[in-house]
Amino acid sequence: MTESMEEYCQLVRSVMEARLDGKTPLAFTHTYGCQGNVSDGERINGMLAQMGFDFTDDPEQADFILFNTCAVREHAEDRVFGNVGALKHIKNRNPKLIIALCGCMVQQQTVADKIRASYPHVNLVFGTHVIPRFPELLYRTLTGGKRVFELSQDDNTICEDLPVRRDGAFKAWLPIMYGCDNFCTYCIVPHVRGRERSRDASRILAEAKELIAAGYKDITLLGQNVNSYAVKNSVSTDGEAWNFPKLLREIDRIEGDYVLRFMTSHPKDCTEELLTVMAEGTHTAHHIHLPFQCGSNRVLKAMNRKYTRERYLELVRMAREKMPDISLTSDIIVGFPGETYEEFCETLDLVREVKFTSLFTFIYSPREGTPAAKLPDPVSHAEKARWMKELLSAQEAIAAERCQSMLGSRQRVLVEQVDERDGRLICRTRDNINVWCEGDAGLVGSFAECEITSARNWVLGGTVLMRNS
Ligand code: 5AD
Ligand code: SF4
Repeated sequence: MTESMEEYCQLVRSVMEARLDGKTPLAFTHTYGCQGNVSDGERINGMLAQMGFDFTDDPEQADFILFNTCAVREHAEDRVFGNVGALKHIKNRNPKLIIALCGCMVQQQTVADKIRASYPHVNLVFGTHVIPRFPELLYRTLTGGKRVFELSQDDNTICEDLPVRRDGAFKAWLPIMYGCDNFCTYCIVPHVRGRERSRDASRILAEAKELIAAGYKDITLLGQNVNSYAVKNSVSTDGEAWNFPKLLREIDRIEGDYVLRFMTSHPKDCTEELLTVMAEGTHTAHHIHLPFQCGSNRVLKAMNRKYTRERYLELVRMAREKMPDISLTSDIIVGFPGETYEEFCETLDLVREVKFTSLFTFIYSPREGTPAAKLPDPVSHAEKARWMKELLSAQEAIAAERCQSMLGSRQRVLVEQVDERDGRLICRTRDNINVWCEGDAGLVGSFAECEITSARNWVLGGTVLMRNS
């Protein structure tokens, strides 16, 4: 922590103490959206803990409520507006409550203006570039007597040395870079997260070592496009030339019992070198999340994705050659402006050809300020929803087939949690596939060997045979 951050943490602590007559302040925080946002949320919670806050799951009990928002699709924004509107009643009952919004959504001027005009019960709004200044901004909110809006566009910030309060005890997110320079024409992220900037490799390695020593079993390296790590503006202090495969290899060399993952990979920057490092690694999962978005070359061009369907399939072939057991997952957008049914069928074909383990599928959502939002979009939402249904049923058949083929096999899994509905253990294979297992709840947080005993559609069931860590 920087000195000034520490000072502001102390100041907030004292102000809250006086404000609540010595009672420990309680924070309710909620993060929407991608893992990058979740990781930011863990740092915000770390700062709150440093400011003397405890945490509650009940907004009614909270002295401070924060929503860390996502802007990637309209639906995510609508949910936030609905939930923020509902806080008005809580604030009426507890006028001392401080309400804050941060994250990608509020980084957009139009959203900030709407909050200013229509949500007067929100006290503090801050964007993605000023997260390290959160304690100072909260202090200003508490003492300045007016609402604080801080949406600076300065995108040189890297969140180093921030305290972290991790959500999990054995799964950890490890950001390696921030921002995105790709400007896919549908995407708001580069507009709200700013330009790509990579963390110093030595800092990442040190954090990975700490996590492994602390017993973390599943570590995911994070970035909007991890494959361009250190390509543009490496701030490495050791004078070495870094790239993502080298970073992955060096982290993989750290001794310990853990699985190493990463996301997201942009196909245009996915190299043979990366696939080789994955194949040769000891800890790296044989899983790659490689969003292809669409199977038509015309649409890919309109999306500014900078690869073709053929190149994508070539990458898949190469990955399978090096790792026959590789699990592939992807993101798909259905109904990009001007996409025809025939073009959508090229997406369907690609899905059937590659046989992904699972898919994240989205109906195109226009985002103000992006080039795609200005394109004619003649296909109705109802029609796009029909295409989506077709895609989902194709994928379900593929997933069911894959699950069937795993029946009777033995898998090493990380036992992640107990399913509250039926007491079974939710486990994850190294290929990132969930298995619901009968077994002892005491195994949560450890590796175990399990046998797959049932495959109903795309849901795997199993029995834990023994602890394996
Ligand atoms: N509409 C629908 N889906 C989108 N995504 C990004 N922007 C949009 C949008 N405007 C999807 C992409 C991306 C994932 C994180 O979200 O598939 O890979
Ligand atoms: Fe958005 Fe494309 Fe960047 Fe991913 S690579 S965050 S889809 S602009």
